[in-house]
Amino acid sequence: MTSFTGAQSRGTFLVVDDEPDILDAIARLFRKEYTVLTAQSVEEALKLIAAHDVQVVMTDQRMPKMSGIEFLAELREDHPEIVRVLFTGYSNISDVIDAINEGHVYRYISKPWKPVELRLFVAQAFEYYRAQRERRELMAQLREANEQLEEQNALLSAANEELKLLDRVKNVFMEVVSHELNTPIAIVFGYTFLLRKELGEDLSSVASKALSGIDSSAVRLKNISNRIFKMLGDDGSGEALDLEWVDVRKFVDSLQDQLDPFLQKRNQRLETVVAPEAQSILADEDKLNDMCLNLLMNAIKFSYDDQVITLDIGLSDDPEVLALTVRDSGVGISDDDIAQIFDVFFSTFNTGHHSSGQFEFNKRGIGLGLAVAKRFAEMHGGYIKVDSEEGRGSLFTVYLPVRPEQQTLRSSVQTRQLAQHAPH
Ligand SMILES: Nc1ncnc2c1ncn2[C@@H]1O[C@H](COP(=O)(O)OP(=O)(O)OP(=O)(O)O)[C@@H](O)[C@H]1O
Ligand SMILES: [Mg+2]
Repeated sequence: MTSFTGAQSRGTFLVVDDEPDILDAIARLFRKEYTVLTAQSVEEALKLIAAHDVQVVMTDQRMPKMSGIEFLAELREDHPEIVRVLFTGYSNISDVIDAINEGHVYRYISKPWKPVELRLFVAQAFEYYRAQRERRELMAQLREANEQLEEQNALLSAANEELKLLDRVKNVFMEVVSHELNTPIAIVFGYTFLLRKELGEDLSSVASKALSGIDSSAVRLKNISNRIFKMLGDDGSGEALDLEWVDVRKFVDSLQDQLDPFLQKRNQRLETVVAPEAQSILADEDKLNDMCLNLLMNAIKFSYDDQVITLDIGLSDDPEVLALTVRDSGVGISDDDIAQIFDVFFSTFNTGHHSSGQFEFNKRGIGLGLAVAKRFAEMHGGYIKVDSEEGRGSLFTVYLPVRPEQQTLRSSVQTRQLAQHAPH
């Protein structure tokens, strides 16, 4: 058993022959290029294979206990990766052909060989080994990628199932909101109306106060149920838009009218600026109104008494896109919260500031306002950007195409969501 190591070994090559002269000749021929191991018997060869990382085995067919083909067939079972080469005289050629056809042997070389030819054969055998190894590695990578894909697929379908379930829950919830909640609310209104009529002038101050309390609570309940319904009822597909040309100036005046009572109570002022170029926009006026009211009510709630809120409407850098900006100098939004403020039901609820109205300082609601505003902006093919500093105030800018096209709405809803929460 001998081993020769070349200075720059390109692999390990095992030669098996019972004639030491032949082993010696082959070792000399290859030792500069490969690590050459030699064995005079199958037993020796197997020991060497067990101890080394052998890539190519070349064996003589005529061996004392076992033929070269038998040895290579066995080797194939235990080490299929090793490239098997046979060298033999012409006499056993039919056995060799069978061996090659059965896949036990990669090549055969006839004795006596020409050194140039043998070098070429051996180089090819090593090349074949490398190609096979690469193939195996690629296959392993592919299998791994496949397994990962299957895992992700399983996760996706689980998530899908969960979504379907949530969707069913949502539908049930919608029914509860629209029927189970709205019906009793309507009944409460009916009874307070009746009672007022019945008692007429006899209404004591306590009864009057109680009736007003019942009424205003019912209004609040109705508002909440309406907003939940709005949020869950529209699937954002753009189908529910009722587009018409909206006169921006008139629209702003109407906002001012709606907000005046709240502004007065807080002694705040709403300053509005409408750029001359921003005269009209094609939009669903009700949704536009809701969106602006939500932003402005937030500005009122999260500003201090006596402060000024501004509403600025003009064209953005793109003349086809309107920019509607609501600015306040109120409490601002913390970095932790800003990523979540557009989420449904996200409200930085603070029991210390909880009060019954809608506009008192720092009054948190149920966290639907911005989710509704975002949804409506997206339905118009637009998006909302927020910029805020805690303690300094907030700036919400809604970008809306002047002429939203139904076809483009769907894609813009998806592509714009990423930009949505990012402050400057
Ligand atoms: N202008 C603002 N200044 C400071 N914080 C704001 C402002 N607008 C929104 N926020 C923060 O974002 C949260 C979510 O706002 P959103 O309008 O969705 O809900 P809400 O006002 O709490 O309740 P709702 O609008 O449903 O009555 C608020 O609770 C508040 O913490
Ligand atoms: Mg709000």
